[in-house]
Amino acid sequence: MKVIWGKEIIDRDKVNIDFEDRGYQFGDGVYEVIRIYNHTYFCVDEHIDRFFTSAEKIEMRMPLTKAELKALITDLLRESAVKNGSIYIQMTRGNASPRDHSYPSQDVVPLLTGSITASERKIDKMKNGMRTTLEDDIRWLRCDIKMISLLGNIMLKHEAHKKNADEAILHRGDIITECSSSNVAMVKDGAIYTHPDGNLILPGITKIVWKSCAEKLNIPVYEQAFTTEELLNADEVFISSTTKEVMPISKIDDKTFDVSKKGSITRLLQSCYEKEIVKQCGELTN
Ligand SMILES: Cc1ncc(COP(=O)(O)O)c(C=O)c1O
Repeated sequence: MKVIWGKEIIDRDKVNIDFEDRGYQFGDGVYEVIRIYNHTYFCVDEHIDRFFTSAEKIEMRMPLTKAELKALITDLLRESAVKNGSIYIQMTRGNASPRDHSYPSQDVVPLLTGSITASERKIDKMKNGMRTTLEDDIRWLRCDIKMISLLGNIMLKHEAHKKNADEAILHRGDIITECSSSNVAMVKDGAIYTHPDGNLILPGITKIVWKSCAEKLNIPVYEQAFTTEELLNADEVFISSTTKEVMPISKIDDKTFDVSKKGSITRLLQSCYEKEIVKQCGELTN
C-alpha cells in the first residue's frame, strides 16, 4: 500500500515517524477526509482549503502549497486501486525534542501523511436512517478546527454506541451544536435550520453542497441555533458528513421519525447531492 509521507509517495512499511513527533505526544495537528467515488475525488479543493485554514488557526506553517498538496493527492490516487473510499491526510507540527508544550521554532518541519481506505456508500442507512442519542457537548471551544486530537468526539460516539445508536447529537445547555462526526440540521414547516458556523462546530464541506442544493430547490435555510425541544419536535432531522453524505435520522433517544415519506426535504437533498457526485465523479454504481 502506498501512502503520502512528507512530500513523497512511498510504501507504507517504509514510513518512519519519530517517537517525539508532536502528533503522537500532544495530538498537535490537523487533518482532512476526502471522499472518492469512481476513483475520482469529490470536493477536493474545498477540503484542501479547509485543511490550510485549520493549520493557519493553530499557526502551523505549511511546508507545501495547495497546488503541491493536490498534486500529491492526485498521485496517491493514481497509485491506488481503490474505487470507492476516503483519502485521509494529516499534518502534525513535526518532531521536536525535548518535549515542550510551546510551539517549536519555525524550522521544525510539519509532517504530512496521507492514505486511502476503501469503503462503500452507506446505502442501507441512507435509506432507513441512522439512530442517534442526545449527548452533552463536552468538547472544547474551538470545534471549528479539524484537529487530530479527537478524544471528546470519540468519547461521545462511544456513548452513542453503548446505547445501540450510530451517532451522538450534541447540545451545549439547550442548544444543539453538531454531532460527534457530522453536522446536524432539522426541517420544520418547509424550512431547514442548522447551527451557524463559528467556534462551536466544524464548517462542513457536505453542508456547503446541501446548502447549494437547498438554494436550487428554493428551500429556505436558516443558519441559526435551535433547542433540543425544537429538534425533538422537528418534521425531519438529517445529519451530513463526507462519509455519511445527507443522512436521515430515524431515532433520537426514544423519539422516532418516519423516514419512509417520499418527497421529503431530506430525500430531495439526498438526490440533489447524488447528482453533484455524478457531475464531479461520474455515474454511481450503488
Ligand atoms: C465534528 C464534525 N462535524 C462535522 C463534520 C462534517 O464535515 P464534512 O461535511 O466536511 O465531512 C465532521 C466530519 O467528519 C465532523 O467530524
